[in-house]
Amino acid sequence: MPRNGTGEGTLVTHAVEAHGARIPLLGLGTWELSGRTCTRIVEQALRLGYRHLDTAHIYDNEREVGDGLRASGVPRDEVFVTTKIWPSHFAPHDLERSAKERLTRLRLSEVDLLLLHWPNPNVPLAETLPALAKVKREGLARHIGISNFTVALVEEAVRLSPEPLVCNQIEVHPFLDQSKVVSACRKHGLAVVAYSPIARGQAARDPTLIEIGKAHGKSAVQVCLRWLVQQDIVVIPRTAKIERLSSNAAIFDFMLSDDEMARIGKLAHPRGRVVNYSFSGAPQWD
Ligand SMILES: NC(=O)c1ccc[n+]([C@@H]2O[C@H](COP(=O)([O-])OP(=O)(O)OC[C@H]3O[C@@H](n4cnc5c(N)ncnc54)[C@H](OP(=O)(O)O)[C@@H]3O)[C@@H](O)[C@H]2O)c1
Repeated sequence: MPRNGTGEGTLVTHAVEAHGARIPLLGLGTWELSGRTCTRIVEQALRLGYRHLDTAHIYDNEREVGDGLRASGVPRDEVFVTTKIWPSHFAPHDLERSAKERLTRLRLSEVDLLLLHWPNPNVPLAETLPALAKVKREGLARHIGISNFTVALVEEAVRLSPEPLVCNQIEVHPFLDQSKVVSACRKHGLAVVAYSPIARGQAARDPTLIEIGKAHGKSAVQVCLRWLVQQDIVVIPRTAKIERLSSNAAIFDFMLSDDEMARIGKLAHPRGRVVNYSFSGAPQWD
């Protein structure tokens, strides 16, 4: 980042701690990034100061994410890399095989965080979580966690996991009330990682976010991301446009007032969810 307030050299210091993991508050989402675009965006983001990358088996871009990491010249141990196991691989042997394949694709010897991507109702957590813990103990992942887990599933996962779970990655942005699952995560010391943190671009058009942004000389997207990080919620906005990387990261040089935080908190509505999916074992996702 340039030093004019976007925070060059300081992005790394903005992090949350959870069960020994230090997770940078800002990461780069990579869903739907592919090929050279993906490699270039990852490389450029790291050059600008991002130190956290989010990918997954199902995004089919781990190779490009790894290539971008190496092309950036940023030392491997300075970057927090997350990937995810797809639920059709939650049976213990499949999970271990898939974890190894993730590392092969990324061309890394370990990832910082390995997540269960979505709950799979067909495989008991009592089998999957010990397998995930084993992968951690074998050194393939420094930390483990979950994604898209509801309050009840967070409780069950925490109870069954032989190793601490460091995060639940879930959809969080101002248009969706996630207060119950966020509370459940906090109760058990899990970090909350917000996916679709700008509601897949919708935040840019919201009149309240635009108005609050004007008071701070910031965009609606920056206000949206600030609202999350100011609650110690990790954000992983995704862009395919290099010119947006810097502005999406310029969220650590201003503060929202309590009143502004509360106003943004009232934007939630019942149809606010932007990712409508639940894993049912459908073969096309295998
Ligand atoms: N665990 C899960 O199940 C799960 C589910 C969904 C997502 N995720 C992760 O979370 C990441 C982020 O979520 P997401 O990709 O769904 O959505 P998002 O980050 O909320 O929004 C991405 C969209 O916003 C646009 N955008 C980015 N910066 C912008 C800006 N400054 N102004 C206006 N528009 C902007 C992007 O367009 P341009 O590319 O044109 O900039 C893109 O269309 C994903 O990439 C993925 O890594 C995880």
